[in-house]
Amino acid sequence: MTSPSFETAKPDQISYLDRLAASDLGRSYKQRMLDELAVRAGQTVLDLGCGPGTDLGALAEATTATGAVLGFDRDQAMVDAARARTADQPVVDVRLGDIHNLALPDQSADRARTDRVLQHVTDPGLALAEIRRVLRPGGRLVMGEPDWETLTVDHPDGALTHAYTRHVADEVVRNAGIGRQLARLATGAGFAVPAVIPLTSVFRDVRVADQVLGLERTTRRAVTAGYFTEEAAERWLAHLTQGPFLAAVTFYLVVAEA
Ligand SMILES: C[S@@+](CC[C@H](N)C(=O)[O-])C[C@H]1O[C@@H](n2cnc3c(N)ncnc32)[C@H](O)[C@@H]1O
Repeated sequence: MTSPSFETAKPDQISYLDRLAASDLGRSYKQRMLDELAVRAGQTVLDLGCGPGTDLGALAEATTATGAVLGFDRDQAMVDAARARTADQPVVDVRLGDIHNLALPDQSADRARTDRVLQHVTDPGLALAEIRRVLRPGGRLVMGEPDWETLTVDHPDGALTHAYTRHVADEVVRNAGIGRQLARLATGAGFAVPAVIPLTSVFRDVRVADQVLGLERTTRRAVTAGYFTEEAAERWLAHLTQGPFLAAVTFYLVVAEA
């Protein structure tokens, strides 16, 4: 089932996040999130689920030496990496913490961002209520999350595409439909939602898609989970490498105001 087109070894989580952040796709949506966040000098900015600190430098630059940037992540390895990367930026403080229960006073922050975090949390509505609690009135939250049910891959046998997307949505990502739910959940948590911005990524190079989607590894998991037979998986992967290739997924960027 392997092909030179597919990456067989799964990259570690930090390498995966770094690679995506450095790609055209990553740089483009992260810049859009930063633009929508509209950080002003002196503000207190939260990066919730900050990972290895990918975005902390840009936030520090935006808020300047008079502001503060707090990164939170529940994973100690991410916190360690983020601290190491921002050691020379005194406005940045990285803390181990859970987005559902932030060790911050009420109304103590001006801006917050969540970037591909709410798709993984146990209770997105509770996390949003917690962010609402710590933001000052008029404070702004910018969220970016995929909607994995929009994932589509062109294949002559549409049943295989449906099985692949069903597997990703059912088994791979905890909150697969979070992208389309953000506006409703944020409204339920007491935010106003002035903007919902859909960004659809179209991949026409199977190797580039594989770096984001792990096509061959995910197909193996789909076989184990019973979404594909071995024979169907062979047909699916063989066609993907024969091109022309096309896959697409929609990422929702949602602006919420406290
Ligand atoms: C896909 S990564 C994104 C990291 C970073 N935002 C970026 O764009 O590179 C998701 C991050 O969210 C963190 N995370 C997941 N659930 C969390 C929670 N309940 N509280 C805090 N962080 C969480 C993970 O540890 C991981 O670092």
